[in-house]
Amino acid sequence: PRVIRLAVIPGDGIGPEVIAEALKVLDAAVGASGAVVSDEAVTVEKTHFSLGAARYLETGDVLTDDDLAAIASHDAILLGAVGGVPGDPRLKDANIERGLLLRLRFALDHFVNLRPTTIYPGVTSPLSNPGEVDFVVVREGTEGPYVGNGGAIRVGTPHEIANEVSVNTAYGVERVVRFAFELAASRPRKKLTLVHKTNVLVFSGSLWQRTVNAIAAEFPDVSVDYLHVDAATIFFVTNPAKFDVIVTDNLFGDILTDLAGAISGGIGLAASGNINPTGVFPSMFEPVHGSAPDIAGQQIADPTAAILSVALLLDQQGLPEAAARVRDAVTGDLASRARAASGASGADALPARSTAEVGDAIVAALGSLAV
Ligand code: NAD
Ligand code: IPM
Ligand code: MN
Repeated sequence: PRVIRLAVIPGDGIGPEVIAEALKVLDAAVGASGAVVSDEAVTVEKTHFSLGAARYLETGDVLTDDDLAAIASHDAILLGAVGGVPGDPRLKDANIERGLLLRLRFALDHFVNLRPTTIYPGVTSPLSNPGEVDFVVVREGTEGPYVGNGGAIRVGTPHEIANEVSVNTAYGVERVVRFAFELAASRPRKKLTLVHKTNVLVFSGSLWQRTVNAIAAEFPDVSVDYLHVDAATIFFVTNPAKFDVIVTDNLFGDILTDLAGAISGGIGLAASGNINPTGVFPSMFEPVHGSAPDIAGQQIADPTAAILSVALLLDQQGLPEAAARVRDAVTGDLASRARAASGASGADALPARSTAEVGDAIVAALGSLAV
């Protein structure tokens, strides 16, 4: 049987709560002990990595070279969320986000950060009339202002100068733009929108725009347009149905995908994949959200984002039927939430389910979908 060796990093806050449900669904989707998926038997062999703020506070380690090497030897990675309470003074010197999450993304060359957004049937968007929303943000994952190529001098004085340098290479832009075109060409609407800020960020903006123009010539079926990032936020709210594939830099993609989560029914539904399309390194799947310290430990986090991240993982592992079953089960669960809400009479008539109850319901739905 095929074995997927999976590195699991539950992380901090609600990370372990949502990953517990995602693993239940993964086991149910491929069969915990070698059930046959399409024509192939698949088992998942999990290695648990205790990493994040909790581990740092205990041992002082963020991500050792040995951790990194061990994680890199897996086929794929499933991550909850890492990071403590923003501003916690005990974590000031650690920078878990940079030392752990970004180190993994950079070391494993996750140059595509894939973040799909769909308003599922029955899900309530805060927008009054969003239309049919189904787009994907292809966020560049290894460059831009995230590289840490900055510095500060005269820190703490009135003359402090703090620089944050955005790095954009022809190589890095070309490969992510090409991925976005290939994705757009594979989708029914075949539309690609470059989002940048070329009116102000003229050097990197020019590189992105020229790269898109050049690759567009190879994809005559894909229609291409451009939006400045500030204007893009307007259309996310007024007409999100206009988008199909969006390609953008690391920081714009970060901000736009939290907004995308909010308009599509909540950040608790937003999934992501950090993909290395070459297959040289394992790809990493995680919800878009963070460790949500404000609701951690209460079993009230929505595990759907982590579960939909498992669907992205199954797609990337070449198991599209298992991925589709997970999405179907999630779609059913979201629709039943909507039915419960519409049947409700009082304000609190929709029984709030725990994190585990949502996971269990999706596992049960998967069971009834199984052939
Ligand atoms: P956050 O995404 O953790 O939380 C923002 C808001 O969304 C909070 O009100 C939270 O309760 C809510 N929320 C998040 N996930 C939810 C879910 N599944 N169900 C219901 N509500 C949910 O963002 P933040 O507060 O800015 O960051 C908290 C910590 O997480 C920080 O340390 C940050 O650096 C880290 N972070 C980590 C990742 C990651 O590891 N991938 C991503 C983003 C933020
Ligand atoms: C995300 C997060 C990360 C990012 C942080 C925690 C480094 O916000 O995955 O969206 O900015 O990429
Ligand atoms: Mn983010």
